[in-house]
Amino acid sequence: MIDRCICHEVTFAALRSLAEGGADLPELQRRTGCGSSCGLCLAYLARMLATGETTQRVMSDADARVWTARALDAIRGAPMNAAPGKNPRSGA
Ligand code: FES
Repeated sequence: MIDRCICHEVTFAALRSLAEGGADLPELQRRTGCGSSCGLCLAYLARMLATGETTQRVMSDADARVWTARALDAIRGAPMNAAPGKNPRSGA
């Protein structure tokens, strides 16, 4: 089961608490460093923010691509509910 950003030793439960206080993914990164090293947790961070799940099964490669794209969009400033890989501002 996946329950934390290993590189920065921060649990998804702790990150969810910060998110419930209003922190989005870029803010979580600034405050904890999560997702800013190897990046393997980005998909799980995005799914945690969308679903609230703080303990997750290992994703399939296809799911990991979708959720990583959502995380990267959020980091670039696109809303988390935008279609993965699409920038709602440009439509590209
Ligand atoms: S596991 Fe989160 S940045 Fe490496």
